[in-house]
Amino acid sequence: MRTYLNRQNFAIPRAAADLSGPSHTRLQAAKAWFFKGLWCATGLIAVGLASAKTPARFADDMAERTRACTACHGEQGRAGPDGYYPRLAGKPAGYLHNQLRNFAQGRRHYELMARMVDPLTDAYLGEMAQYFSELKLPYPAPTANNTITPERLAKGQQLVTQGDATRGLPACTQCHGVRLTGVQPNVPGLLGLPLDYLNAQLGAWQTKQRRAHAPDCMAEIVQRMPSEDLIAVSSWLARQPLPVETRPAERPPAGPALPEALRCGSAPELSATRSAPAQSRGRP
Ligand code: HEC
Ligand code: HEC
Repeated sequence: MRTYLNRQNFAIPRAAADLSGPSHTRLQAAKAWFFKGLWCATGLIAVGLASAKTPARFADDMAERTRACTACHGEQGRAGPDGYYPRLAGKPAGYLHNQLRNFAQGRRHYELMARMVDPLTDAYLGEMAQYFSELKLPYPAPTANNTITPERLAKGQQLVTQGDATRGLPACTQCHGVRLTGVQPNVPGLLGLPLDYLNAQLGAWQTKQRRAHAPDCMAEIVQRMPSEDLIAVSSWLARQPLPVETRPAERPPAGPALPEALRCGSAPELSATRSAPAQSRGRP
């Protein structure tokens, strides 16, 4: 009954009306319900029943309004089926919010996304981010099967978990969490992402197609890695199953302070916790 809105051809044209969120007028809402009635002979009865048994109004409304998003991002934002449309469910809210801003403000490029988020207020982007971040869904098993030697995979693992001091490269875990499930509120996890998506993102940072709020630590990281290392790293990451606890860590792992050149504008807390000593060096 309720799945018809999942169909891409219907959900996308509805985007403008669905996503207008808090400014959604009663008239628009009524129109939306009316469409449901047209689509399904027993629609009105169903609507009545549905609202009677859904105490979580906010979540339910968000599920409806974000149908246009889940047409691409998979049901409840669990990721699209083709290995590219990224998962949204359970990612840290600050990270998701920053990405929506990045699309809206031209630091990430995907025309359809940009068009969708453009008319929305920043507060509403934040609400959508919060909604998706709170969804807890199991992760699928990893599927990466690209050809790569065991030696290069081992190299990938080493770079992820230990970095490479000779080129000033911290371990990915130092920012993305020991379990690699991300860190609240702004750092995404690196597991459960399809290989194609990981490669595309790292490649986009290399070519400056993707940027984060300045200073952009990820741009700095990929500059210190030749493409073959990036592929070793993504190939290893995309082969790892998720740990039992998939939620992002509450705080960054303890560890050596991040060098000044690797400050992350989108995740100031990464430096804030560790660069306490930096203040005694007289930094503002
Ligand atoms: C037409 C398909 C499509 C629709 C509709 C769509 N997205 Fe996306 N979205 C994408 C693609 C593709 C990417 C990855 C783009 C890239 O390569 O950077 C993306 C990326 C994202 C990201 C970044 C994810 C990450 O882990 O970095 C967020 C957040 C997001 N979308 C949220 C939304 C929301 C919220 C909506 C509804 C308002 C939406 N998307 C609608 C296709 C879509
Ligand atoms: C200095 C801290 C830091 C280190 C070290 C670091 N990252 Fe990141 N990474 C970030 C931050 C912060 C973001 C979020 C950027 C944004 O807001 O767009 C991010 C985002 C990413 C993303 C985008 C995820 C998505 O869902 O789109 C990928 C992929 C990534 N990092 C891979 C890596 C890899 C691989 C390594 C190790 C080689 C690494 N990172 C090391 C801070 C770091």
